[in-house]
Amino acid sequence: PAPRRNLAGRVRGQWGPARESRLRELGEVAASLDMRAYLVGGSVRDLLLNAQTQDVDIVVEGEAPVLARQLQARNPELQVSVHPSFGTATLSFPGGERLDLASSRVEHYPSPAALPRVESSGIQADLWRRDFTINAMAMHIHPERFGELLDPYHGATDLKERRIRVLHSLSFIEDPTRILRALRFELRLGFLMDAMSERLVRNAVHLDVFSQLSGARLWRELSYLLDLPHALALSDRLSELHLWPVLRGEPLADPARFRARVARAVDSLRWYRLLFRAAPEVAGWRLWIRVFWGDLDDARLRQRLREFQLPARELSAALSDVEKLRQARSRLLKPLDPWTRYQLLSPLSMEGLLALLSWDECEILQAQVSEFIQHQYDLRLPLSGKDLQALGIPRGPRIGELLAQLRRAVVEGHVTDRETAKQWIRQSLQASESHARSQPPG
Ligand code: CTP
Repeated sequence: PAPRRNLAGRVRGQWGPARESRLRELGEVAASLDMRAYLVGGSVRDLLLNAQTQDVDIVVEGEAPVLARQLQARNPELQVSVHPSFGTATLSFPGGERLDLASSRVEHYPSPAALPRVESSGIQADLWRRDFTINAMAMHIHPERFGELLDPYHGATDLKERRIRVLHSLSFIEDPTRILRALRFELRLGFLMDAMSERLVRNAVHLDVFSQLSGARLWRELSYLLDLPHALALSDRLSELHLWPVLRGEPLADPARFRARVARAVDSLRWYRLLFRAAPEVAGWRLWIRVFWGDLDDARLRQRLREFQLPARELSAALSDVEKLRQARSRLLKPLDPWTRYQLLSPLSMEGLLALLSWDECEILQAQVSEFIQHQYDLRLPLSGKDLQALGIPRGPRIGELLAQLRRAVVEGHVTDRETAKQWIRQSLQASESHARSQPPG
């Protein structure tokens, strides 16, 4: 047989000696308890890809909580939280690193009198329950075999050949979120599903598997996808796999037009980020909510976004943006005077503005929205309420009115700095005084 691949060098090279020695110690303590521990899932995949890993997951053949307690007894500074009913434990090390431990469920009794399945099937069975071959590899951390790759479903080959492949034909039926996970790995890694997995996706979509999934879970997976910098490829993949009706509640009315809009939004986002490097970060997913769902009719839009259970603030911001965007859009197809334009656009968030900028293929609209984004979105008045008080205006509603009028004067270009602002204030005070004098008393 081929020599078993060993990842110990990668563990040290990519993760450093501190994590390596933690893993080795874990393996040793497990062995002393007659358990075996393995590194599993995304962290093995990332080791092979030479990619960064966030969470490190360990599967234990045996009771993970018992192992965690034993480790804590040896390292008093180690924080351990244990969930006995799930057979899981989390180890938090002083530097902030976390290891998640789970028990592979080996106590599988085929019939009441039968013996439990042998222990060594624990890790295999655990891997079999996972989503894709590239996530179904394990690495031994048992002392004698530390670093040895366990790859029963040929995940390493699929990694090399850039393939997302499910382990069995019911995978997407058992867990429909895996369909979106497959897309996430495709886009993030630049991989593709193999033909069989893709057929299984189509089949699962046809069987309406998503109807069993809560909106909140759907959104959770979706939000990861919307955060990736591949919105156009995502949109194309969602079209190919007939997923738009699932996500929107109805198919795309005009796929070509929709695609062109997404492409423009990708450009708008890139433009914004290039131009305003220092500006507050615009969240991609907020833009994509507006672009991907913003053409639905009101009732459906509300229903969909409610089902996603977005935080209340996000929900109302998205709904408000879409409403404002629709109001502004048709009017901006013609050149508007600066103040009308300002009033139409200032209620929108930056994500809403970028969606609007991409909404139509219309230069006049684009010029007006981009002008607003560049020069007026973050408009600061040259004078504050305090400045007006210093000019002799008493505290009260009059200050607010004057500031609003000053804003308009700035937008229209009559006021450009503090000096012209002060002149403008004096003039408007004089004008209102003479206006008051000319009114008959009473
Ligand atoms: N998993 C699964 N089915 C799911 C979710 C997760 O089989 N629906 C398994 C996979 O083996 C995955 C592991 O659980 O590798 C951990 O899941 P998660 O942390 O969500 O994914 P990672 O693969 O670690 O990916 P990431 O790098 O995005 O964290």
